[in-house]
Amino acid sequence: MHKGKVSVVGTGPGAVEYLTAQAILAIEECDLVIGYRLYVRQISGLLEGKGKEVIMSAMGSEIERCRFAASEALKGKKVALVSGGDPGIYGMAGLMLQVAGEGDEKLPVEIIPGITAAGAAAAVLGAPLMHDFAVISLSDLLTPWVLIEKRLHAAASADMVIVLYNPRSKSRKDLLARAVQIIEEQITGDPAVGLVRAAGREGQEVRKASLKSLLEHLDFIDMATLVIIGNSNTYWQDGKMITPRGYQL
Ligand SMILES: C[S@@+](CC[C@H](N)C(=O)[O-])C[C@H]1O[C@@H](n2cnc3c(N)ncnc32)[C@H](O)[C@@H]1O
Repeated sequence: MHKGKVSVVGTGPGAVEYLTAQAILAIEECDLVIGYRLYVRQISGLLEGKGKEVIMSAMGSEIERCRFAASEALKGKKVALVSGGDPGIYGMAGLMLQVAGEGDEKLPVEIIPGITAAGAAAAVLGAPLMHDFAVISLSDLLTPWVLIEKRLHAAASADMVIVLYNPRSKSRKDLLARAVQIIEEQITGDPAVGLVRAAGREGQEVRKASLKSLLEHLDFIDMATLVIIGNSNTYWQDGKMITPRGYQL
């Protein structure tokens, strides 16, 4: 009978001080660490000299990574499958659970949360997520673009703060422009927009924008950037982005 397990460990935005105590414990207790190389490198300080097996994989091999993690756990190893930010938010948690359900043998899988990019970026900007917000990924690799458009339309028409993950990639430069157009069609005014690149890790940078000026910041927006589009009440105050929640001062 195997005693292995897979812990899907959220490593947060990048800097080790954002790791939770539970994540550190899971990494300390595991025999094998598997993950996309950027995330494994970010926790390298916890791995050096500990005699753990470490496997870094390339982007885009997620199914193989989960199947490998499952097969090693079934041999009796404690496996830490590391996933940036929160593993349950566009991360590895769902896929790992799906893969665990494929086999006949029961495989224990635990999900260890991490600070997601939205939380890390919001803290850098101020308090833009104080009211209802929608989180939408602009990546159409795993989601049809028509569905992404439908969700942008719905969130904007409900005056929600909108957090855009995966706002831009080298092969999909026009998606952000289309997203801006859809949002503009649903609202009046020019909401505040905050941009954070590499939130909570080395190289963190912030830009202040508005919806109408957002496309002037394309040089800043890449796959390490998070875009937060405010609602009709969001404003900037002394460099901080605030979405008020209704308190009367
Ligand atoms: C596939 S999603 C993974 C999200 C991750 N699971 C999380 O909870 O943050 C990748 C996208 O998250 C955003 N992202 C992740 N880490 C970030 C960071 N440190 N700063 C800004 N954006 C980040 C970027 O928009 C990036 O394209």
